Amino acid sequence: MLTQEELLAKVNAAIDALVYNAQPDALYEPIRYELSLGGKRIRPVLMLMGYQLFKDDVDKIIPQAIALETYHNFTLLHDDVMDRAEMRRGRPCVHKVWGDNAAILSGDAMLILAYRLMTEQRTSDTQQPHDRHLFSALQTFTEATLGVCEGQQYDIDFEKRSDVSVAEYMEMIRLKTSLLLGCALKMGAQLAGASEADANSLYDFGEKVGLAFQLQDDLLDVYGDPAVFGKKIGGDILCNKKTFMLLSTLQMADESQRRQLDEWLAAESFDPAEKISAVRAIYDAVGIRRVCEEKIESLFAQALNSLDTLSVDADLTGPLRDFAHHLMGRQS
Ligand code: IPE
Ligand code: IPE
Ligand code: MG
Ligand code: MG
Ligand code: MG
Repeated sequence: MLTQEELLAKVNAAIDALVYNAQPDALYEPIRYELSLGGKRIRPVLMLMGYQLFKDDVDKIIPQAIALETYHNFTLLHDDVMDRAEMRRGRPCVHKVWGDNAAILSGDAMLILAYRLMTEQRTSDTQQPHDRHLFSALQTFTEATLGVCEGQQYDIDFEKRSDVSVAEYMEMIRLKTSLLLGCALKMGAQLAGASEADANSLYDFGEKVGLAFQLQDDLLDVYGDPAVFGKKIGGDILCNKKTFMLLSTLQMADESQRRQLDEWLAAESFDPAEKISAVRAIYDAVGIRRVCEEKIESLFAQALNSLDTLSVDADLTGPLRDFAHHLMGRQS
Protein backbone atom coordinates (compact mmCIF):
# COMPACT_ATOMS: atom_id res chain seq x y z
CA MET A 1 0.00 0.00 0.00
CA LEU A 2 1.48 3.35 -1.04
CA THR A 3 1.69 6.33 1.30
CA GLN A 4 -0.09 9.63 0.73
CA GLU A 5 3.24 11.16 -0.40
CA GLU A 6 3.92 8.32 -2.85
CA LEU A 7 0.44 8.63 -4.32
CA LEU A 8 0.82 12.39 -4.65
CA ALA A 9 4.17 11.92 -6.41
CA LYS A 10 2.47 9.63 -8.95
CA VAL A 11 -0.29 12.17 -9.54
CA ASN A 12 2.19 15.03 -9.92
CA ALA A 13 4.33 13.07 -12.38
CA ALA A 14 1.28 12.17 -14.48
CA ILE A 15 0.06 15.78 -14.59
CA ASP A 16 3.55 17.03 -15.47
CA ALA A 17 3.62 14.54 -18.34
CA LEU A 18 0.40 15.88 -19.88
CA VAL A 19 1.20 17.73 -23.07
CA TYR A 20 -1.20 20.41 -24.18
CA ASN A 21 0.66 22.07 -27.00
CA ALA A 22 -2.09 21.92 -29.63
CA GLN A 23 -3.31 25.15 -31.25
CA PRO A 24 -4.61 27.73 -30.71
CA ASP A 25 -2.21 28.80 -28.02
CA ALA A 26 -4.72 31.20 -26.49
CA LEU A 27 -6.91 28.18 -25.63
CA TYR A 28 -4.17 25.93 -24.25
CA GLU A 29 -1.90 28.44 -22.50
CA PRO A 30 -4.37 29.10 -19.63
CA ILE A 31 -4.77 25.31 -19.21
CA ARG A 32 -1.01 24.79 -18.95
CA TYR A 33 -0.82 27.72 -16.52
CA GLU A 34 -3.55 26.47 -14.19
CA LEU A 35 -2.24 22.89 -14.12
CA SER A 36 1.33 24.09 -13.54
CA LEU A 37 0.35 25.93 -10.36
CA GLY A 38 -0.10 22.70 -8.45
CA GLY A 39 -2.54 22.92 -5.62
CA LYS A 40 -2.98 20.19 -3.05
CA ARG A 41 -4.32 17.62 -5.52
CA ILE A 42 -6.39 15.97 -2.85
CA ARG A 43 -9.09 14.61 -5.17
CA PRO A 44 -6.85 12.35 -7.29
CA VAL A 45 -5.01 11.22 -4.15
CA LEU A 46 -8.36 10.34 -2.52
CA MET A 47 -9.35 8.36 -5.62
CA LEU A 48 -6.12 6.35 -5.46
CA MET A 49 -6.56 5.85 -1.71
CA GLY A 50 -10.08 4.55 -2.27
CA TYR A 51 -8.79 2.19 -4.97
CA GLN A 52 -5.88 0.77 -3.02
CA LEU A 53 -8.14 -0.29 -0.18
CA PHE A 54 -9.24 -3.04 -2.57
CA LYS A 55 -6.49 -3.42 -5.19
CA ASP A 56 -2.76 -2.65 -5.36
CA ASP A 57 -2.17 -1.69 -8.98
CA VAL A 58 -2.98 2.02 -8.66
CA ASP A 59 -1.16 2.82 -11.92
CA LYS A 60 -4.16 1.42 -13.79
CA ILE A 61 -6.37 4.32 -12.75
CA ILE A 62 -3.91 7.21 -13.04
CA PRO A 63 -5.76 8.57 -16.14
CA GLN A 64 -9.02 8.67 -14.17
CA ALA A 65 -7.29 10.28 -11.18
CA ILE A 66 -5.75 13.09 -13.21
CA ALA A 67 -9.04 13.45 -15.10
CA LEU A 68 -10.67 14.32 -11.80
CA GLU A 69 -7.97 16.89 -11.03
CA THR A 70 -8.41 18.38 -14.51
CA TYR A 71 -12.15 18.65 -13.85
CA HIS A 72 -11.48 20.34 -10.48
CA ASN A 73 -9.16 22.87 -12.14
CA PHE A 74 -11.86 23.61 -14.71
CA THR A 75 -14.28 24.47 -11.89
CA LEU A 76 -11.70 26.88 -10.46
CA LEU A 77 -11.39 28.82 -13.74
CA HIS A 78 -15.13 29.42 -13.81
CA ASP A 79 -15.45 29.88 -10.04
CA ASP A 80 -12.91 32.70 -10.05
CA VAL A 81 -14.92 34.58 -12.68
CA MET A 82 -18.13 34.04 -10.70
CA ASP A 83 -16.49 35.11 -7.41
CA ARG A 84 -14.60 38.07 -8.89
CA ALA A 85 -11.45 36.53 -7.37
CA GLU A 86 -8.01 37.89 -8.15
CA MET A 87 -5.53 35.36 -6.84
CA ARG A 88 -5.28 31.58 -6.78
CA ARG A 89 -2.37 29.44 -5.64
CA GLY A 90 -0.38 32.62 -5.10
CA ARG A 91 -0.74 33.79 -8.70
CA PRO A 92 -3.25 35.93 -10.61
CA CYS A 93 -6.38 34.02 -11.70
CA VAL A 94 -6.70 33.00 -15.34
CA HIS A 95 -9.43 35.59 -15.98
CA LYS A 96 -7.15 38.29 -14.55
CA VAL A 97 -4.33 37.33 -16.93
CA TRP A 98 -6.26 36.47 -20.13
CA GLY A 99 -9.79 37.78 -19.51
CA ASP A 100 -13.20 36.21 -18.85
CA ASN A 101 -13.55 34.70 -22.32
CA ALA A 102 -10.35 32.71 -21.85
CA ALA A 103 -11.47 31.48 -18.43
CA ILE A 104 -14.79 30.37 -19.92
CA LEU A 105 -13.48 28.62 -23.03
CA SER A 106 -10.25 27.18 -21.63
CA GLY A 107 -12.39 26.01 -18.70
CA ASP A 108 -14.81 24.33 -21.10
CA ALA A 109 -11.89 22.65 -22.86
CA MET A 110 -10.62 21.34 -19.50
CA LEU A 111 -14.01 19.80 -18.81
CA ILE A 112 -13.81 17.97 -22.15
CA LEU A 113 -10.19 16.99 -21.51
CA ALA A 114 -11.33 15.57 -18.18
CA TYR A 115 -13.86 13.34 -19.97
CA ARG A 116 -11.22 12.31 -22.51
CA LEU A 117 -8.86 11.26 -19.71
CA MET A 118 -11.67 9.47 -17.87
CA THR A 119 -12.14 7.12 -20.81
CA GLU A 120 -8.50 6.96 -21.84
CA GLN A 121 -7.39 3.61 -23.21
CA ARG A 122 -3.79 2.63 -22.60
CA THR A 123 -1.93 0.43 -25.07
CA SER A 124 -2.69 -2.91 -23.44
CA ASP A 125 -6.29 -3.78 -22.57
CA THR A 126 -5.15 -5.64 -19.49
CA GLN A 127 -3.97 -2.28 -18.12
CA GLN A 128 -7.53 -0.98 -18.08
CA PRO A 129 -10.09 -0.96 -15.34
CA HIS A 130 -12.87 -3.38 -16.23
CA ASP A 131 -15.35 -1.69 -18.63
CA ARG A 132 -18.25 -2.31 -16.28
CA HIS A 133 -16.36 -0.71 -13.42
CA LEU A 134 -15.37 2.27 -15.55
CA PHE A 135 -18.99 2.70 -16.58
CA SER A 136 -20.18 2.82 -12.95
CA ALA A 137 -17.39 5.24 -12.05
CA LEU A 138 -18.35 7.50 -14.96
CA GLN A 139 -21.94 7.53 -13.76
CA THR A 140 -20.72 8.61 -10.30
CA PHE A 141 -18.60 11.33 -11.88
CA THR A 142 -21.41 12.64 -14.06
CA GLU A 143 -23.91 12.84 -11.19
CA ALA A 144 -21.38 14.58 -8.93
CA THR A 145 -20.39 17.15 -11.53
CA LEU A 146 -24.00 18.09 -12.26
CA GLY A 147 -24.43 18.54 -8.52
CA VAL A 148 -21.42 20.87 -8.42
CA CYS A 149 -23.21 23.17 -10.90
CA GLU A 150 -26.29 23.14 -8.68
CA GLY A 151 -24.18 24.02 -5.63
CA GLN A 152 -22.38 26.80 -7.47
CA GLN A 153 -25.72 28.28 -8.51
CA TYR A 154 -27.02 28.24 -4.92
CA ASP A 155 -23.77 29.87 -3.78
CA ILE A 156 -24.36 32.74 -6.22
CA ASP A 157 -28.11 32.95 -5.49
CA PHE A 158 -27.37 33.21 -1.75
CA GLU A 159 -25.19 36.31 -2.26
CA LYS A 160 -28.40 38.25 -2.95
CA ARG A 161 -30.57 36.63 -0.29
CA SER A 162 -30.78 37.75 3.32
CA ASP A 163 -32.80 34.80 4.67
CA VAL A 164 -30.38 31.90 4.03
CA SER A 165 -30.38 29.30 6.83
CA VAL A 166 -27.40 27.29 8.08
CA ALA A 167 -29.15 24.17 6.75
CA GLU A 168 -29.33 25.72 3.27
CA TYR A 169 -25.65 26.66 3.49
CA MET A 170 -24.72 23.08 4.47
CA GLU A 171 -26.67 21.70 1.50
CA MET A 172 -25.03 24.23 -0.83
CA ILE A 173 -21.50 23.25 0.24
CA ARG A 174 -22.44 19.57 0.09
CA LEU A 175 -23.26 20.12 -3.57
CA LYS A 176 -20.43 22.44 -4.60
CA THR A 177 -17.58 20.76 -2.70
CA SER A 178 -18.45 17.55 -0.88
CA LEU A 179 -19.88 15.68 -3.83
CA LEU A 180 -16.53 15.75 -5.57
CA LEU A 181 -14.56 14.47 -2.58
CA GLY A 182 -17.12 11.70 -2.05
CA CYS A 183 -17.04 11.00 -5.78
CA ALA A 184 -13.23 10.70 -5.78
CA LEU A 185 -13.29 7.97 -3.14
CA LYS A 186 -16.34 6.21 -4.55
CA MET A 187 -14.87 6.17 -8.06
CA GLY A 188 -11.66 4.67 -6.68
CA ALA A 189 -13.65 1.92 -4.99
CA GLN A 190 -15.81 1.31 -8.08
CA LEU A 191 -12.80 1.13 -10.39
CA ALA A 192 -11.33 -1.51 -8.08
CA GLY A 193 -14.58 -3.49 -8.27
CA ALA A 194 -15.50 -2.98 -4.59
CA SER A 195 -19.01 -3.73 -3.32
CA GLU A 196 -21.66 -1.05 -3.54
CA ALA A 197 -21.85 -0.91 0.26
CA ASP A 198 -18.12 -0.20 0.57
CA ALA A 199 -18.18 2.33 -2.27
CA ASN A 200 -21.05 4.12 -0.50
CA SER A 201 -19.32 4.11 2.90
CA LEU A 202 -16.31 5.74 1.30
CA TYR A 203 -18.59 8.22 -0.40
CA ASP A 204 -20.10 9.12 3.01
CA PHE A 205 -16.62 9.63 4.46
CA GLY A 206 -15.67 11.91 1.55
CA GLU A 207 -18.90 13.84 1.82
CA LYS A 208 -18.38 14.61 5.53
CA VAL A 209 -14.71 15.44 5.02
CA GLY A 210 -15.82 17.73 2.18
CA LEU A 211 -18.19 19.67 4.43
CA ALA A 212 -15.41 20.21 6.96
CA PHE A 213 -13.03 21.08 4.12
CA GLN A 214 -15.31 23.83 2.79
CA LEU A 215 -15.91 25.24 6.28
CA GLN A 216 -12.14 25.34 6.70
CA ASP A 217 -11.80 27.07 3.30
CA ASP A 218 -14.35 29.68 4.41
CA LEU A 219 -12.48 30.14 7.70
CA LEU A 220 -9.15 30.59 5.92
CA ASP A 221 -10.80 33.12 3.59
CA VAL A 222 -11.18 35.34 6.67
CA TYR A 223 -8.34 34.30 8.96
CA GLY A 224 -5.78 32.67 6.63
CA ASP A 225 -2.30 33.90 5.78
CA PRO A 226 -2.54 35.08 2.14
CA ALA A 227 1.07 34.01 1.47
CA VAL A 228 0.20 30.42 2.43
CA PHE A 229 -3.49 30.31 1.43
CA GLY A 230 -2.66 31.65 -2.05
CA LYS A 231 -5.96 33.56 -2.36
CA LYS A 232 -6.84 37.10 -1.36
CA ILE A 233 -8.21 37.23 2.16
CA GLY A 234 -11.72 38.64 2.59
CA GLY A 235 -13.09 37.74 -0.86
CA ASP A 236 -16.12 35.99 0.65
CA ILE A 237 -16.91 39.05 2.81
CA LEU A 238 -16.78 41.34 -0.23
CA CYS A 239 -19.18 39.09 -2.19
CA ASN A 240 -21.61 38.73 0.73
CA LYS A 241 -21.09 34.97 0.63
CA LYS A 242 -23.51 33.36 3.05
CA THR A 243 -20.94 31.29 4.89
CA PHE A 244 -21.50 29.37 8.12
CA MET A 245 -19.47 32.10 9.85
CA LEU A 246 -21.62 34.94 8.55
CA LEU A 247 -24.93 33.14 9.18
CA SER A 248 -23.92 32.08 12.69
CA THR A 249 -22.58 35.52 13.50
CA LEU A 250 -25.94 37.01 12.47
CA GLN A 251 -27.61 34.61 14.91
CA MET A 252 -25.18 35.32 17.77
CA ALA A 253 -24.82 39.08 17.29
CA ASP A 254 -26.44 41.65 19.58
CA GLU A 255 -28.74 44.28 18.08
CA SER A 256 -26.04 46.81 17.29
CA GLN A 257 -23.70 44.22 15.73
CA ARG A 258 -26.55 42.85 13.63
CA ARG A 259 -27.45 46.34 12.42
CA GLN A 260 -23.83 47.02 11.44
CA LEU A 261 -23.61 43.69 9.58
CA ASP A 262 -26.89 44.37 7.77
CA GLU A 263 -25.57 47.77 6.70
CA TRP A 264 -22.37 46.24 5.30
CA LEU A 265 -24.38 43.55 3.51
CA ALA A 266 -26.62 46.21 1.92
CA ALA A 267 -23.84 48.70 1.10
CA GLU A 268 -23.44 49.24 -2.64
CA SER A 269 -20.26 51.26 -2.60
CA PHE A 270 -17.58 50.86 0.05
CA ASP A 271 -13.86 50.67 0.60
CA PRO A 272 -13.08 46.92 0.34
CA ALA A 273 -10.43 46.92 3.08
CA GLU A 274 -12.78 48.79 5.40
CA LYS A 275 -15.63 46.32 4.85
CA ILE A 276 -13.36 43.33 5.44
CA SER A 277 -11.95 44.70 8.67
CA ALA A 278 -15.34 45.86 9.98
CA VAL A 279 -16.99 42.48 9.34
CA ARG A 280 -13.98 40.65 10.76
CA ALA A 281 -14.16 42.79 13.91
CA ILE A 282 -17.75 41.62 14.45
CA TYR A 283 -16.70 38.00 13.81
CA ASP A 284 -13.99 38.43 16.45
CA ALA A 285 -16.39 40.05 18.91
CA VAL A 286 -18.82 37.09 18.80
CA GLY A 287 -15.93 34.56 18.77
CA ILE A 288 -17.06 32.92 15.54
CA ARG A 289 -13.67 31.42 14.76
CA ARG A 290 -13.88 28.97 17.66
CA VAL A 291 -17.52 28.12 16.84
CA CYS A 292 -16.50 27.33 13.27
CA GLU A 293 -13.50 25.28 14.37
CA GLU A 294 -15.74 23.21 16.64
CA LYS A 295 -18.13 22.56 13.77
CA ILE A 296 -15.20 21.45 11.60
CA GLU A 297 -13.94 19.09 14.31
CA SER A 298 -17.38 17.56 14.73
CA LEU A 299 -17.76 16.96 10.98
CA PHE A 300 -14.36 15.29 10.85
CA ALA A 301 -15.33 13.03 13.74
CA GLN A 302 -18.52 12.08 11.88
CA ALA A 303 -16.48 11.40 8.74
CA LEU A 304 -14.21 8.99 10.58
CA ASN A 305 -17.25 7.04 11.82
CA SER A 306 -18.24 6.27 8.21
CA LEU A 307 -14.98 4.35 7.83
CA ASP A 308 -16.03 1.91 10.57
CA THR A 309 -18.73 0.50 8.28
CA LEU A 310 -16.19 -0.58 5.62
CA SER A 311 -15.71 -4.32 5.15
CA VAL A 312 -11.92 -3.98 4.80
CA ASP A 313 -9.41 -4.60 7.59
CA ALA A 314 -9.45 -1.61 9.98
CA ASP A 315 -5.64 -1.22 9.63
CA LEU A 316 -6.06 -0.45 5.94
CA THR A 317 -8.08 2.68 6.68
CA GLY A 318 -5.17 4.25 8.62
CA PRO A 319 -3.87 6.32 5.69
CA LEU A 320 -7.36 7.75 5.04
CA ARG A 321 -7.75 8.69 8.70
CA ASP A 322 -4.32 10.33 8.66
CA PHE A 323 -5.21 12.19 5.48
CA ALA A 324 -8.40 13.54 7.09
CA HIS A 325 -6.38 14.75 10.10
CA HIS A 326 -3.83 16.33 7.80
CA LEU A 327 -6.62 18.22 5.96
CA MET A 328 -8.13 19.36 9.23
CA GLY A 329 -4.95 21.22 10.09
CA ARG A 330 -4.39 22.69 6.65
CA GLN A 331 -3.52 26.34 6.13
CA SER A 332 -3.57 26.34 2.31
C1 IPE B 1 -10.56 24.90 -3.79
O1 IPE B 1 -10.15 23.59 -3.69
C2 IPE B 1 -12.03 24.92 -3.98
C3 IPE B 1 -12.77 24.43 -2.80
C4 IPE B 1 -13.56 23.44 -2.85
C5 IPE B 1 -12.62 25.09 -1.52
P1 IPE B 1 -8.73 23.19 -3.11
O2 IPE B 1 -8.52 23.84 -1.78
O3 IPE B 1 -8.61 21.71 -3.16
O4 IPE B 1 -7.75 23.88 -4.16
P2 IPE B 1 -6.31 23.45 -4.69
O5 IPE B 1 -6.55 22.54 -5.85
O6 IPE B 1 -5.57 22.77 -3.56
O7 IPE B 1 -5.67 24.73 -5.11
C1 IPE C 1 -15.55 26.66 -4.65
O1 IPE C 1 -15.83 27.25 -3.46
C2 IPE C 1 -16.18 25.38 -4.99
C3 IPE C 1 -15.91 25.06 -6.40
C4 IPE C 1 -14.91 25.51 -7.10
C5 IPE C 1 -16.84 24.19 -7.09
P1 IPE C 1 -15.02 28.60 -3.22
O2 IPE C 1 -15.45 29.65 -4.15
O3 IPE C 1 -15.05 28.87 -1.77
O4 IPE C 1 -13.53 28.13 -3.61
P2 IPE C 1 -12.27 29.09 -3.61
O5 IPE C 1 -12.17 29.69 -2.23
O6 IPE C 1 -12.50 30.12 -4.66
O7 IPE C 1 -11.12 28.18 -3.90
MG1 MG D 1 -14.20 31.04 -5.21
MG1 MG E 1 -17.12 30.08 -5.30
MG1 MG F 1 -13.39 29.80 -0.72
